[in-house]
This record gives sequence, C-alpha cells and structure tokens, in this order.
Amino acid sequence: MSTMETHSSASFSSYADHMQSLVRDLKKKVSVIIKGGTGYDRHLKAGKMLVRNRIELLLDPGSPFLEIGQFAGHEQYDEPTPAAGVVAGIGLIHQQFCIIIANDPTVKGGAYYPLTVKKHLRAQYIAMENHLPCLYLVDSSGANLLHQSDLFPDKEGFGRIFFNQAKISALQIPQIAIVLGSCTAGAAYIPAMSEQTIIVKNQGTIFLGGPPLVKAATGEIVTAEELGGAQVHTETSGLADYLAENEHHAFNIARHIAYHFNRSTIKIPNINAIQPPKYDAKSLYSLIPDTLKKTYAVQDIILRLVDGSVFDEFKPLYGKTLVCGIATIWNEKIGIIANNGILFSESAQKGTHFIQLCCQQKIPLLFLQNISGFMIGKRYEAAGIAKHGAKMVNAVACASVPKLTVIIGGSFGAGNYGMCGRAYDPRFLWSWPNARIAIMGGEQATNVISTIKENTLKKQNQCWNTEDKMAFRQTLLNQYEQHSSPYYASARLWDDGIIDPADTRDILGLSLLIVKQGPIQKTQFGVFRM
Ligand code: COA
Repeated sequence: MSTMETHSSASFSSYADHMQSLVRDLKKKVSVIIKGGTGYDRHLKAGKMLVRNRIELLLDPGSPFLEIGQFAGHEQYDEPTPAAGVVAGIGLIHQQFCIIIANDPTVKGGAYYPLTVKKHLRAQYIAMENHLPCLYLVDSSGANLLHQSDLFPDKEGFGRIFFNQAKISALQIPQIAIVLGSCTAGAAYIPAMSEQTIIVKNQGTIFLGGPPLVKAATGEIVTAEELGGAQVHTETSGLADYLAENEHHAFNIARHIAYHFNRSTIKIPNINAIQPPKYDAKSLYSLIPDTLKKTYAVQDIILRLVDGSVFDEFKPLYGKTLVCGIATIWNEKIGIIANNGILFSESAQKGTHFIQLCCQQKIPLLFLQNISGFMIGKRYEAAGIAKHGAKMVNAVACASVPKLTVIIGGSFGAGNYGMCGRAYDPRFLWSWPNARIAIMGGEQATNVISTIKENTLKKQNQCWNTEDKMAFRQTLLNQYEQHSSPYYASARLWDDGIIDPADTRDILGLSLLIVKQGPIQKTQFGVFRM
C-alpha cells in the first residue's frame, strides 16, 4: 500500500518551466483551432450559429464536453482545416452521455477531407463501444471533391459512415440528425440514415444532387429550397420528421427527443465530495523531466491522479520497471499499469498477471505509457524476452474490460503495443504535450540505417564521405523529430487528443463514467506462449 510519495518531492523548477512552456504552446494552438475556419464571416452574415455555440445549446447547461480529435487535420492540407472541419465530443443531454458529431461549415463549407472522415468514424466507434446516443449536427457540402480519391471507396472511407449508422441503429443506440445547413450528396445520407431528423426552415437542405448538378444532368432549373428544403422534406418526401423554425427551436426539439430515450441517467459526482489527491495537479509539471533520457518514479505521477493519493501496488518488489496496482479515480475503480523504465521479462509477466486479475474482476485498465521498448541483447533474448513480451501483448489485445491509455512520455516500438497503443483499442487514448511516438527514437533509427547503409557500401568497395554521411543523418534526425511529435500523431488521429497534464485526472474521471455506459464482456484469452 502506498499513500506517500515514493521519491523525493524536490521541485525541479527547470522541469516545471519546460512543461509550462509546452502547455502554453498547446493552449495557443487550441485557441486558434476553436475559432474555426476562414468561412467565419460569411457564416455569421448568413445568420447562422457557430458550431461550438450550437453544441453548447444542445447540451445540458454546465455539461462537460469531452472533445475528441481537436488536432485532427492540423497542418495536414494546403489550407488550415481546424478540427478537420468537424467538432466531436461527449456531453450530457438530460443527464445522459451522448456523442455529438457536428460539421463546421466555416471550414470549406463543412466538406469532408480524408481526416474528417477518419474523425467522424472514430466518433461513431466511440458511440458503438460505449453505447452512446449520436446526435449529428449536419451542415456540410459532402465529400471534398479535391480529395475524393483519398476518401471515397475504401473500407474506412466516406461510405463507412452510413454503414456505421445502420450498425449503430441495430445495436439499439439512438441517432438523431439536426439539419442546420446543406446536406449534399453523401452528406444527405446522414439525416436519411438517422432514426429521427429535424430540419431548420429556410436554412436546411437535403438532396443527392444540388441545383447545378440537376441542371447539368437533366436541364431542370430548380432552387435549393424547392429541391430539398425543410418544407419539401417534412411535408412531402417524409425524409425529415420535424420542422424547426430556427436553430434554437431545432435544439429544443432534439432535447425533447433525447428526453424520451428511456436510458439510465448518470450523475456526475460532486467533485468536491470525492477525496482529491494529496498533491496539487500542477505539481505534475515539476516531476516530468525535460528529456525522455531522464528517468523518474512513475508512482509520483500516479499519486497525483488517484483519489486520496491511495494506490495499492501489486507485486511491488518484482519486475519493478512496470508498476501495477489498483486505485480509484472519481470513485471509480481502475487498474493502473505504468512504465517505470524499460520492459524486462519479469515486468512483462507481472503486467500479464495483473491484466488477468483486472479482467476477472471487471476492473477497467489505465495504461500510463512512457516506454522506450522491451529490453534487447543476447542475455535477454536467450531468457525469452520476445515470448514474455508477447504474453503481455496478447493479454492487452484480449482484455475486454474498458482500456484507457495516456502517453505521458515516450511511446516506442513494441512498448507501444504492450502498453495499449492505438492498435490495441483503448476506449480513449490521450497524449501529454511532451509525448513522443515512433517506432524507435530518432538517434537509434539514424544509427541503424547509417550502419546498414555503410555496410552495403563497404560490400561494394565504396566509402561514404563524412559530409554526405552527416547530411544523411541530419535529414533522418529531422524527419524523426518532426514525425514523433504529439501534434503529428494527433493530426492523424493516432490519439483522441493532447491534454494538459494537470487536466488528466478529470479527463480520466469523465472517461471512466462514459465507458461504464457500455457493457463489459467476459474476457476470453487465447493461448499464451509459456
Ligand atoms: N469540395 C471541396 N470544396 C468545397 C466543396 C466540396 N464539396 N463545397 C464547397 N467547397 C468550398 C468552396 O470552394 C469554398 O472554398 P473557398 O472558401 O476557398 O472559396 C468553400 O468551400 C465554401 O463554399 P461556398 O460555396 O462559398 O459556401 P456557401 O455557404 O455559399 O455554399 C454549399 C455552401 C454547400 C451550398 C456549396 O458550397 C455547394 O453547393 N458545394 C458543393 C456541394 C456538392 O456538390 N457536393 C458534392 C459532394 S459528392
């Protein structure tokens, strides 16, 4: 049992300065993203509400909003695409957790870029896993015609959105569409595949082909309103179910529909009634070294995340480079698995054992990733590091309790797999701004590739001149530096967002309440190599 700091609490002010500057940079980037796209003025002039205000009106007053994929699309296209043109997150409507997927028409008319599709799908998978009703706030010009080949026909392409809508409905999860603007072509299927659809008068339109396409294809001349306006769809086609006078009215109708979902409601615990950690959240800043090369006791991080700083450590004397144990966050039980150095055979076996215990007791798992990988070298290979590591990877893959992952430092190589990286289906995956994600560190990768290249040249009786070699190494180092940044990862939706370490506890608390909405299946492990 541990209720005290295991290591010195000396405040490393240079660490704090470093983390503070990373957090400042994060907040600056977020403040730009939440402003939306370049169509801001045109949108307001048209008398429409901005996407984040829409979401606020839809949710219960004071509801939390756990936003996902805020950095999706960040610096990925020739033009800025804040939040990839679709805001997504989880909030409360009549005290029920719901997922909101809302197009931002200020970003290229709400057109779907490849990463918009990926984010929309990610939000739907969150809905499926956690049984969350979906509310689509539709205001989109459909597929981005300049990127169609990267988003149209593949398995995880645009069509998957509508496939998922059918599957979500079959899972008995309610879906509502609120049509606040254009729903053209593919986007028309979002309201069409929803179970109940609301459309705003003189503002929402739904059609498979807009007036220019109709004219080109058939010669028919028709206005957008005549073709697919609110009146057409509520009175004639029956594609929409409720006519809203304006946006406020539309959100009111949506809230009324949600009121009748007849699902169990959730009470967000009174935070003041929960025992907080003994240490201030911001004291995390001074614990996290300014370089991944420095080590620290991860227990000190855990004590700042869990209720009352009470952490019951499992097997504390064995396999010490992996810290495992049970605690509560926001009064919810959680099994924590945290790196405390490189993974050895003993730590991997201990992790596997602990995962089995949590699955047996149906306790969700939290992985705190700061891992350079599994130990390598003759002695360790002979002792079976690969097979012991495989056991842990196997256990993580099969564990069907909800899994949450936070990348608090490095996330390299097979360590990323064993510690429940994206490919291992954590229900949520968050990164701290100091995170680094790559197959290996830049220096190691550069050394490996340089050695291979040098050997090849030697075999050909050629030599590599120092200048060329240095230039090659520098290019690769720069590439690794850029590609292992958390922003590079988050832009591609390898995580659900970059968070301020000081917010980690509340984000995990909220995540734990959300994952409780879905059923926990019995875990069925396969064969472990012994
Ligand atoms: N793909 C790529 N870019 C698109 C787009 C699309 N499907 N739809 C709109 N855009 C771009 C516009 O070129 C414009 O770019 P700019 O700001 O760089 O000039 C921006 O998005 C806003 O479009 P705009 O037409 O000025 O906005 P609006 O509010 O007047 O009209 C629509 C919105 C949706 C009615 C209109 O853009 C439209 O009809 N788009 C085409 C829809 C379509 O046919 N989609 C088929 C998808 S399969």
